[in-house]
Amino acid sequence: MTVSDRASRGVYEDRGGPAIREYLAEILTSAWEPSARVVEDEVEQIAAALRELCDDEDCCLVVTTGGTGPALRDVTPEATLAVCEKEMAGFGELMRQVSLRAVPTAILSRQTAGIRGSSLIVNLPGQPKAIGECLDAVFPAIPYCVDLIGGPYLTTDEGRIKAFRPKSAKKPAG
Ligand code: MTE
Repeated sequence: MTVSDRASRGVYEDRGGPAIREYLAEILTSAWEPSARVVEDEVEQIAAALRELCDDEDCCLVVTTGGTGPALRDVTPEATLAVCEKEMAGFGELMRQVSLRAVPTAILSRQTAGIRGSSLIVNLPGQPKAIGECLDAVFPAIPYCVDLIGGPYLTTDEGRIKAFRPKSAKKPAG
């Protein structure tokens, strides 16, 4: 989900959404289907789109890009937390830490993550190059997180991302 006033109004082309889709296509080896949204920087619009993706489209993973900074219209983390039952603060902490190696302004992102039902929502900054930097850091933990919330068993291309599951984790039959 791209959160951007300008992309949603067609002022510029959305590059974040396609970059997320390409990233997932590159690393996921289990079957999946993308569902894209481009919304304005408005809490209600973002929250409504998140509810739709989690509840109606049954997305086990929702990745947002944009609206995480300190500017007045940056409200993606607020909308994310408004629809989640649990915050997963470690995602934001790790992504900021890794991003700091690339840019000192990484601390300006308030990106977080959370659980809504059987869906994991992860915020990324709007800068397209932040997408790979951030997802590479947290993706090893995403398949097991999705297991724990009752989502599908995700598998990855281990040459790119090795999903970590504790030895005690059960593999589904078949
Ligand atoms: N993280 C990474 N990995 N790469 C980046 O270029 N840009 C930073 C930060 N995090 C950046 C990053 C900047 S400049 C800002 S203002 C914040 O993310 C918030 O960006 P957003 O409001 O587009 O979400």
